[in-house]
Amino acid sequence: MRMKVCALDDLDIGGAIKLDVQPPVAVIRGESGDVFAIDDTCTHADASLSEGFVEGDAVECPLHMAFFCLKSGQPSCPPATVPVKTHRVELIDGDIYVEISRG
Ligand code: FES
Repeated sequence: MRMKVCALDDLDIGGAIKLDVQPPVAVIRGESGDVFAIDDTCTHADASLSEGFVEGDAVECPLHMAFFCLKSGQPSCPPATVPVKTHRVELIDGDIYVEISRG
């Protein structure tokens, strides 16, 4: 399923938008300026990564501070050990689209 998110100019560096799909997806703009989409719920417990802190192209979970690479979804420090699922982002005519993949 492909979803239009917003215009690229409307998502600041370090900003995030939570997509209200099941399970929710976080669209996050890293400090490189690139846009990434990952599952919003931390794999450690019930925290929303769209409310996390962006550093580089990674996001820090707001609850127990695990870091996830926005590109690969891999955690780089505990307590999370399981990666978050990533989704493909496309920029078309200045707008951000996310291809939400499940399964
Ligand atoms: S809920 Fe994210 S690290 Fe614990």
